Amino acid sequence: MGKVAFATAVTCAAAACAVTALVVRQRMQSSVRWARIDAVMARVDVVMRELEERCATTVGKLRQLADAMAVEMHAGLAAEGASKLKMLISYVDNLPTGDEEGLFYALDLGGTNFRVLRVQLGGKEGRIVRQEFEEVSIPPHLMIGGSDELFDFIASALARFIASEGEDFHLPTGRQRELGFTFSFPVRQISIGSGTLVKWTKGFNIDATVGEDVVGELSRAMERQGLDMRVNDTIGTLAGGRYHDKDVVAAVILGTGTNAAYVERVEAIPKWQGLLPKSGETVINMEWGNFRSSHLPITEYDQALDDESLNPGEQIYEKLVSGMYLGEIFRRVLLRLAREAALFGETVPAKLEIPFSLRTPIMSAMHHDKSPDLTVVSTKLNEVLGISNTSLQTRKVVVRICDIIAKRSARLAAAGIVGIVKKVGRARDNAREGGSQLPRMVIAMDGGLYEHYMIFSESVQSTIKEILGEEASDSVVIKMANDGSGIGAALLAASHSHYLELEQDL
Ligand code: BGC
Repeated sequence: MGKVAFATAVTCAAAACAVTALVVRQRMQSSVRWARIDAVMARVDVVMRELEERCATTVGKLRQLADAMAVEMHAGLAAEGASKLKMLISYVDNLPTGDEEGLFYALDLGGTNFRVLRVQLGGKEGRIVRQEFEEVSIPPHLMIGGSDELFDFIASALARFIASEGEDFHLPTGRQRELGFTFSFPVRQISIGSGTLVKWTKGFNIDATVGEDVVGELSRAMERQGLDMRVNDTIGTLAGGRYHDKDVVAAVILGTGTNAAYVERVEAIPKWQGLLPKSGETVINMEWGNFRSSHLPITEYDQALDDESLNPGEQIYEKLVSGMYLGEIFRRVLLRLAREAALFGETVPAKLEIPFSLRTPIMSAMHHDKSPDLTVVSTKLNEVLGISNTSLQTRKVVVRICDIIAKRSARLAAAGIVGIVKKVGRARDNAREGGSQLPRMVIAMDGGLYEHYMIFSESVQSTIKEILGEEASDSVVIKMANDGSGIGAALLAASHSHYLELEQDL
């Protein structure tokens, strides 16, 4: 071999060595990376298994929950304070029939927004002739400030809306405008036109209003603008539902908060005091968000959320079920995975540490991601939490968490509905002629969680079937009552109108 040739051979050998070293280093790095990923996934798996186990809602457990709900309903009707379910008597004893006529207003205060609306009712033939509404968002500082400030804000928006009433709406001469007030918080009533606030929920916290008559608060703020009554949103939804379908027996709200109302026979209400209504029935606002039972699957995430909430120890069922909290439970699980299993790398994403930074609509968007590489999940993680470059495996974990939390919520809501069906159904069953078909029972449903989170609402429906069985569940129908709470309040203002009483007296 000549000198040059030898030198080339040596260079080649050196190059080959370098290439081999690079390949070996790359292989080592990649096996370290794989080992790290395996370790991450092993830790993730432990947390996920535990989450699945703690959130389990077997059909047996759901049946126990439904029974517990029915038992608590009885207890709450028996005596004040005898149950976590307040079972508030609404004194709404005339649900709309469809015959109502005239112009009615409603004010719907339920969460971060409130709505004012007007509706022109045309009786049996005309039905809802015309309606208009306006939505106003409540500045966050008013949700935790002074009572007068909040009610003044609402009253001035209402006054502006009334002032914009066009010629398409007709108020019979000599009449004052009547207003139904949907106030979506627990209120204890002694008549249809008054009610004291038991407590605030859903992020509101204004001490000065608790124990006060909220109608009084609003009336004062309205300086006697013709306010006549108030209702809870579930009762409004029930009224709205009944206006369209006479088989509506209950209403359920699954939105920012959750609650249910249903029609009860007054003779089944031992705590009723005073004169009995002619109809023999009244609507009960269950305030089921405060339901609690040892059968509820409560995890460490729920416990921590409750401890750090504005109302610790209260609204436990609501905190497991409703839209205000699902995203927050989801965030807490992700945070634990980020901290303990380094799911998103060595550093914990700062935004993930911020309470309520993950809202339920974002969770829903991720959960519904049908793309093969979960691009929506990837985009939302990036946009909302500043987490980029996630692996498909990580994104699948994220979706699995949504699934566990949303389905637990939906299944618990279904158990609550079955509890009502059992309570109402038993009474109807006793009244039924032997051998006749199970009566149709319609549940009027409202709330953004049920309306927009499809996996959630499908799960509510399939779980009702699972608990009750195919045949019995055929008679239970869930009907969306969009905007039931707003229109319903106006309809109740109509079915309880002062002018009806005056006409009857003539
Ligand atoms: C309130 C209920 C209300 C429900 C739905 C709950 O937080 O306590 O009064 O009906 O939310 O808006």
